[in-house]
Amino acid sequence: MINSAFPKYSENLRLAPTSFRPKEVETRRQSIRADDKRLHVDAFPSRPNQGERILRVFLNINPHGKSRVWRIGEPFEDIAQKFVPIIKKYHPWRARLLKALRVTKSLRSEYDHLMLGIHDQMKQSDEYQVTSEQITYEFESGSVWVCFSDQTAHAAMSGQFMMEQTYHLPVSSLYTPSSSPLGILQRQTNRELI
Ligand SMILES: [Fe+2]
Repeated sequence: MINSAFPKYSENLRLAPTSFRPKEVETRRQSIRADDKRLHVDAFPSRPNQGERILRVFLNINPHGKSRVWRIGEPFEDIAQKFVPIIKKYHPWRARLLKALRVTKSLRSEYDHLMLGIHDQMKQSDEYQVTSEQITYEFESGSVWVCFSDQTAHAAMSGQFMMEQTYHLPVSSLYTPSSSPLGILQRQTNRELI
């Protein structure tokens, strides 16, 4: 499906493990940082990706016909403008220490630092969760949807039984690299982040 929809990606897609999500989302209790019912873009503390894209395919396989309900937020450009100015400064020595201590699997670049900061700040702001521009969308049972989850503000509000397949993709393989989170963040900060 990805190959036919986005032929330019096919050569450089890197497949991550498939996941099956059998739990009901609505009643799940998690810390704020882990709570995917809060609007966020994907960024992972232990897995820096140096700008590489996170492309995800979702399939709602609910056998009882129940939709998977998402909130979908504003464009990444607007998110970055709000949150980048309040993220703490990046320290390369700290990134090297985190790698030496194996807190991160590879070196956390300034790009990864900013993405993680945006992820955390979005989730931590009760005001942002409520007042930011957003829509609610129901993905019916049987439907398939695709998004760059590192760029699309999303929150999974309810639903049960889903398959998810992640692909990673280098920024250089994109149709418009300048519209990627790396391109947008480098433009806004006016410096190289990798
Ligand atoms: Fe997510």
